[in-house]
Amino acid sequence: MPVRQLHPLFVAELTRIDLAAGIDARTQGEIERTMDRYAVTVLPDQNLDDEKQIASAALYGPLEVSPPVHSQDGGPAAALRIRNPHIFDVSNLDESGKTLDLDDQRRAYRQGNELWHTDSSFRQKSATWSMLHARVVPPAGADTEFVDTRAAYDALPDTMKARIGGLVAEHSIWHSRARLGGYTPTDEERKARPPARHPLVRRHPGSGRNALYIASHASHIVGWPEDEGRALIDELVAFATQPRFVYAHPWRRGDLVIWDNRCTMHRATPFESSTHVRDMRRATVIDTTAGAPAA
Ligand SMILES: [Fe+2]
Repeated sequence: MPVRQLHPLFVAELTRIDLAAGIDARTQGEIERTMDRYAVTVLPDQNLDDEKQIASAALYGPLEVSPPVHSQDGGPAAALRIRNPHIFDVSNLDESGKTLDLDDQRRAYRQGNELWHTDSSFRQKSATWSMLHARVVPPAGADTEFVDTRAAYDALPDTMKARIGGLVAEHSIWHSRARLGGYTPTDEERKARPPARHPLVRRHPGSGRNALYIASHASHIVGWPEDEGRALIDELVAFATQPRFVYAHPWRRGDLVIWDNRCTMHRATPFESSTHVRDMRRATVIDTTAGAPAA
């Protein structure tokens, strides 16, 4: 199967795969091996509806359910645009398919994706892969940027590796949402999505390499004064997101991009979201293991 590497450190493009037609065990394994090595895989020209996207993702494990999000401050959960709960709506559209109003809280909630993050690090059972499919892309902007946190870990000075080994960070969706402001969770939402704790350095099972597990949901280091932990996390994120580590993906309609949340971070970049439509849909595979400690 032809593999084209899109960045010196990671990211592969695999062509000649048609997920909608169904894939055999060999192709399924080929995608897995590519992911283990490259951490991000681009599969262009995929003609998927929600069911076929879900079926492709479910080959790799159980899928997360998209949580309710409200449209008004403190209001009830907004009606869903996408019926299937295993699809995360990563668009700028409301339930009727119109672009979200500027004061719609869903806009603020989704804007949190513009911070460097790893999907679902705020869950104790966090995510392995995210699979994001481009249904409608705007004419300009809206690249997704990725970094490989194994490469970033490898490049850290030995003194920093020694300093962070064994540390545990606390992650919360409400921490990253509070950083940009604009979305206020209800008490029920806070209760439904409590923080989670994960080692700062974990071994990526598919490659055996150590990876930083950090980013915008990480609020502090367990057992450290909050400001010191925050400063360390910020320092590591700044280190890991230096230009040499970043791949920016320019989306084309039909692209399916898979990334491994255990060893990458990503962020959305802005576009003219009041005038153009961006309809992206994500399926997310749950990590059913306890997560591997650093090697
Ligand atoms: Fe994300």
